[in-house]
Amino acid sequence: MYLENISLRQFKNYQHSEIKFSRFINCIMGSNGSGKTNLLDAIHYLSLTKSALNSIDQQNIQHDEEFFSIKGTFHLDDKKYQIQCSCKSGSKKVVKKDNKPYLKLSEHIGVFPLVLISPYDTDIIREGSSTRRKFMDGIISQIDGQYLQSLLKYQRLLSQRNQLLKDFARKHQFDAQLIASYDEPLLKLMKAIFDRRTKFLDQYMPIFKKHYMSLSEGMEDVDLKYKSDLFSPDFEEQYLSNYQRDLSIQRTGMGTHKDDLVCSISGYSIRKFGSQGQQKSFVIALKLAQFEMIQNDKGFKPILLLDDIFDKLDDLRIKKLIDMVSSQSFGQLFITDARPERTARILENTPCEIANFLVEYGHAVAT
Ligand SMILES: Nc1ncnc2c1ncn2[C@@H]1O[C@H](COP(=O)(O)OP(=O)(O)O)[C@@H](O)[C@H]1O
Ligand SMILES: [Mg+2]
Repeated sequence: MYLENISLRQFKNYQHSEIKFSRFINCIMGSNGSGKTNLLDAIHYLSLTKSALNSIDQQNIQHDEEFFSIKGTFHLDDKKYQIQCSCKSGSKKVVKKDNKPYLKLSEHIGVFPLVLISPYDTDIIREGSSTRRKFMDGIISQIDGQYLQSLLKYQRLLSQRNQLLKDFARKHQFDAQLIASYDEPLLKLMKAIFDRRTKFLDQYMPIFKKHYMSLSEGMEDVDLKYKSDLFSPDFEEQYLSNYQRDLSIQRTGMGTHKDDLVCSISGYSIRKFGSQGQQKSFVIALKLAQFEMIQNDKGFKPILLLDDIFDKLDDLRIKKLIDMVSSQSFGQLFITDARPERTARILENTPCEIANFLVEYGHAVAT
């Protein structure tokens, strides 16, 4: 599977650009602020229907313009697919496959899978539990559409229940029955989400550990431990008896929306005790394991975007990364870097076609 070309209109700092890619390696060069990351973000939109950086679609419309449009041609199993993602100011975004709009954007997720490695990945170990849930859900959603549906339904019901709790507090009126009508479906969805996350981690863990070992060449034992209220055998009772507390905090205090992954090295928190090198290896291993999980599931490689990671990684780690995509069948790779000579050196012995692009002020030209 690969992306043959892209056409951008009024997307961030791209006024109008048409670019034809290599089905192997694409190096996107240009000074800071020129639009390298924006180009990767447009590819991210085509694959996952959203930006990797700014979840407010309207803010990705070029300043002072009325809409953006991103079009691209994917190749999959000897067929071509035209994907278009557009957003008009004041309206919801529309994603079309071969000119037919999706009724549910979630149906597009995982069709043309993608993995992004960027400097922000360290957020997965540094930030709060929601970034880790997002990371885990992002992988499962690309391989299991049913899971994504459950997750979206859960989020919808949960936010309705939370809204009710807020309304009760505001009006000093309580309706236990109304709340209870949410609990049965919520509990059922939580169980499904918990089971799927558990199954996912069983498969993911050994792959993750393997990649960590290979990147670090160290002997430390890394671990990701799933933390969830649902491990308690009395979870359902606890959840239901938490109603009074939910009322006072005006939100739902227990459930899979509180899940976390505890990231550790030799039994200690990687965030607090890991060296910089260990943290880098940890994060890259998380992403490589994501790549491999998706590849195993689909039977082909996801598109890999490497955004400005060469500043952050030493040559050994970068080499391993490139080997990973180029071993056996080659996947499609997009690399951004402000320093073309460095990328050229790293890719020197890579035996496949490399296309180079220079980005200046939101214009990408093949060089
Ligand atoms: N909605 C927008 N309209 C116009 N320009 C934008 C918009 N969003 C971001 N930009 C511009 O995009 C540029 C950043 O591009 P980016 O792809 O991050 O650069 P880099 O090449 O460093 O990765 C900045 O100059 C920023 O002002
Ligand atoms: Mg950038």
